[in-house]
Parts: sequence; C-alpha cells; structure tokens
Amino acid sequence: MNISGNKILITGGASGIGLGLAERFVKENNTVIVCGRREALLKDLKGKLPGIITWVCDLSLAPEREELFNWISAEHHDLNVLINNAGIQQIMGIHDTDFFPRAEEEIKINIEAPLHLTSLFLKLQKPDTIINVTSGLAFAPLTSVPIYSASKAFFHSFTLSLRHLLLAKNVEVIELIPPALNTDLGGKGRHTYAPPVGDFINAVFEQLEQGKTEISYGFSENMLKAGPEDLKKAFERMNAPR
Ligand SMILES: NC(=O)c1ccc[n+]([C@@H]2O[C@H](COP(=O)([O-])OP(=O)(O)OC[C@H]3O[C@@H](n4cnc5c(N)ncnc54)[C@H](OP(=O)(O)O)[C@@H]3O)[C@@H](O)[C@H]2O)c1
Repeated sequence: MNISGNKILITGGASGIGLGLAERFVKENNTVIVCGRREALLKDLKGKLPGIITWVCDLSLAPEREELFNWISAEHHDLNVLINNAGIQQIMGIHDTDFFPRAEEEIKINIEAPLHLTSLFLKLQKPDTIINVTSGLAFAPLTSVPIYSASKAFFHSFTLSLRHLLLAKNVEVIELIPPALNTDLGGKGRHTYAPPVGDFINAVFEQLEQGKTEISYGFSENMLKAGPEDLKKAFERMNAPR
C-alpha cells in the first residue's frame, strides 16, 4: 500500500495498537477516522491529534455498523483503507455459567464485526486496501482465552481467502499479526510484561514499506514461520501448568 495520501478507517483506534497506527498514519499524511465505544477517549484523541475524525459506535451491534457505514458513504465516500483492529480478549473456562453469552459477545466483536464491515466497505467507490489485525495466537491457541484464540484463527483463515478473492479487484489485503504487546487488551495490567506498542508499529511500517502483506514481529514471526512440530511445542509451552 502507499503509506501516505489515504483516507483510513481504524476500528478501535483510540487505544493500544489502533492508536499507535492512527498516530503514525496521521504523521505520514493520511486522513484518519477512528471509531470505538468510549466517547471520552475519542474526545481526548481529537485534542491530541488535530485533524482526526471520530465516530462513537458499538461494533458488536449490526445496526451500529450499518449506521457507521451510512455516515461514511455520505461524508467520506472516498475512504480507501479499512483497518479491522477492534477486538476483545476474555479469560474463560468451558464450565463457567456465563461461558456461552461471553463467547457470543467475543464472536460478535472479533468475527462478525470485521466480516460485516468488510462487506460494507467493498461497496464504496474506491476501496483499495484492507488491513486485518489477527494475532500470534491464531497459530497456537492459549487455552485460558479459548474463544479469543479461535476467533483469531478464524480471522487469519478468512484473511487468506479474502486476499485471494480480491486479487482480481486490485484490493490489497494485509494481515497484521501482533505478538503480545503492552496494551489494556483483556483488562489493565494483563499485558505489562509485553513489549511496547511503538516497537510493533515501527516494525509494521518498515514491513509495509517493503510491500509485505503478512506482517509479524517477535513471537508472531516465529508462529508464522513455524512447522507442525514447532506449533505443538509452542502450544505445550504456553499452556503448561504453572
Ligand atoms: N495487545 C496484544 O497483546 C495483542 C496481541 C495480538 C493481537 N492483538 C489485537 O490487536 C487489536 C487491538 O487490541 P489492543 O491490544 O490494542 O487492545 P485495546 O487497547 O483494548 O484495543 C481494542 C480496541 O477495540 C475497541 N473495541 C472493543 N470492542 C468494541 C466494540 N464492541 N465496538 C467498537 N470498538 C470496540 C476498543 O475501544 P472501546 O473499548 O472504546 O470500544 C479499543 O480501542 C485487537 O484485535 C487484538 O486482538 C492484540
């Protein structure tokens, strides 16, 4: 993709990896729109990054996704890049009494929302790039976050198909595969052991400039290159009793 001169929608762009991407894409002379549920966070971001455009919505709800798309079609029909970044991660066990409703919620945000937004985005006048944010856990699941890991495996698989399906339409499909990073994903303090978002963002832009379409870093680079035996070992290591 061209690094500059785009109009980009980043879902979940007011915190963590989405925020890192938003800041860098603004710096690289792009028009950036971000959306999320927390209005106060979006307001703060407007103060910090003049020129940024924000929209409050809950992407787990189909009508709110339609509303976002209708606004984009009316006000920003020249949007050419969609970044499906928003996601949640929940620790859960199969015997939890609320297992199924929580699983459903995670599936709505991590799977239904990006699928729906992708199909809507492709109706715009000149879509040319879709960036999907998956995870190193797409390749070997962490069993304490079983639905999260499975949702990212789904999203990785869908991204491979989407890239192939959109070849003829000249829409580039890029996968960002982050390793664990120090964000508030899953709750404050859960990822403080992990590298800062800035390191990943630098790696992302380096690899985008090289024209890569599968962008990984650290642990996720190992996962992307791993064979079946390596994946088995990674699974055992990550899920060993502590
Ligand atoms: N950090 C990691 O270790 C890591 C590793 C691999 C992959 N990832 C992936 O990276 C992406 C970004 O996560 P992050 O680490 O940056 O965590 P984060 O700071 O919690 O970011 C998630 C973003 O998604 C938004 N979001 C969640 N549910 C939403 C909903 N229903 N509607 C609209 N927006 C919603 C949140 O905004 P609101 O709460 O305001 O709605 C938030 O801005 C996720 O897809 C995650 O799975 C993260």
